[in-house]
Amino acid sequence: MKAVGLIVGAVALAAGIQSFQSAGPAVPEGVRKHVETMRAAKTLRARVLVTDVSGGNQEISVAFARPNRFKIERADGFTLSDGKTVYEYTGATSSYTEHPYAPEDLTKAVRADELFAWTVFFEANALANVSDATDGKSRTLKGIKVQEVALRTPNRERTAGLLVDEQGVARGFTLETPKKNLVAIATEFEVGGDLPESTFAFVAPPGAKKVEPAAVSPKYAEVQAIFDKACLPCHGAGSSSGGVDLSSYNAVVGGRGSVVKGNPDSSAIVRAIRSGRMPKGRGKLPQTEVDTIVNWIKAGANPD
Ligand code: HEC
Repeated sequence: MKAVGLIVGAVALAAGIQSFQSAGPAVPEGVRKHVETMRAAKTLRARVLVTDVSGGNQEISVAFARPNRFKIERADGFTLSDGKTVYEYTGATSSYTEHPYAPEDLTKAVRADELFAWTVFFEANALANVSDATDGKSRTLKGIKVQEVALRTPNRERTAGLLVDEQGVARGFTLETPKKNLVAIATEFEVGGDLPESTFAFVAPPGAKKVEPAAVSPKYAEVQAIFDKACLPCHGAGSSSGGVDLSSYNAVVGGRGSVVKGNPDSSAIVRAIRSGRMPKGRGKLPQTEVDTIVNWIKAGANPD
């Protein structure tokens, strides 16, 4: 019921955004205080109920502490960083990986849409591309008075509303993207509290086995080098046999079905290679090269 009320609120926010005329400071008091509080806080602990309007609830527990320590628990597992090592536990397979902490870990784990309002705890510029913000109406959330602050990003692909309490801290938010329509509410919330050391100490859940982390994505340059050697000149820009041009990143990912990002098995390139059809008239590609192409596609077929 609460969520429904908030959704109505989100619609009202969207209407508010349209009528907003940019005047005064780009970021209003509500957001600035929130950012300052998050940046100054030594710790943050919250339990967040996230409702995606297009389907499903999830509960996420987070504990953040400086430097680079975090634990993010979801129904299907958790990610934990003690600042030196990152552990990722998956409940479904009862397994975990561990690898040395790297700054990307923070970005990957903390910069999640479901944690939108609180990402700024670690990432100073998380709310930096907000171009407009305007105060909306006040309401009571879980017995706490909050003020809605509507945010808009320049490309208008994302609109958001922070639900800011009287201390100026976001206790929840709404977020609309082309894919998601989220309402997040902190059911428990504590800023600056003492978190016991054990919060960030990894203890393997009973029966969990350690597995090797998935290989990191090969660089596209490695993939192009394989195409250059094994597939060109038959699949060059000027001589694209079968309509398949493998001479550049854009041509490779832009070709119909040649590459299905994240899904090597559905990618025509992989099928052609695995079946031995390609490279036509030459020997099969060495397995290490096949792996490079497959892993690159699996990791999202990124340009770098
Ligand atoms: C000697 C020339 C030649 C080489 C080398 C070659 N191809 Fe092809 N490829 C062709 C021709 C010709 C076609 C058109 C369909 C056919 O005749 O089999 C084709 C078609 C394709 C197709 C689309 C049809 C299918 O079979 O799925 C894909 C994908 C493809 N090639 C990928 C590759 C990749 C990847 C390489 C390098 C690892 C490669 N090819 C190397 C000549 C070549």
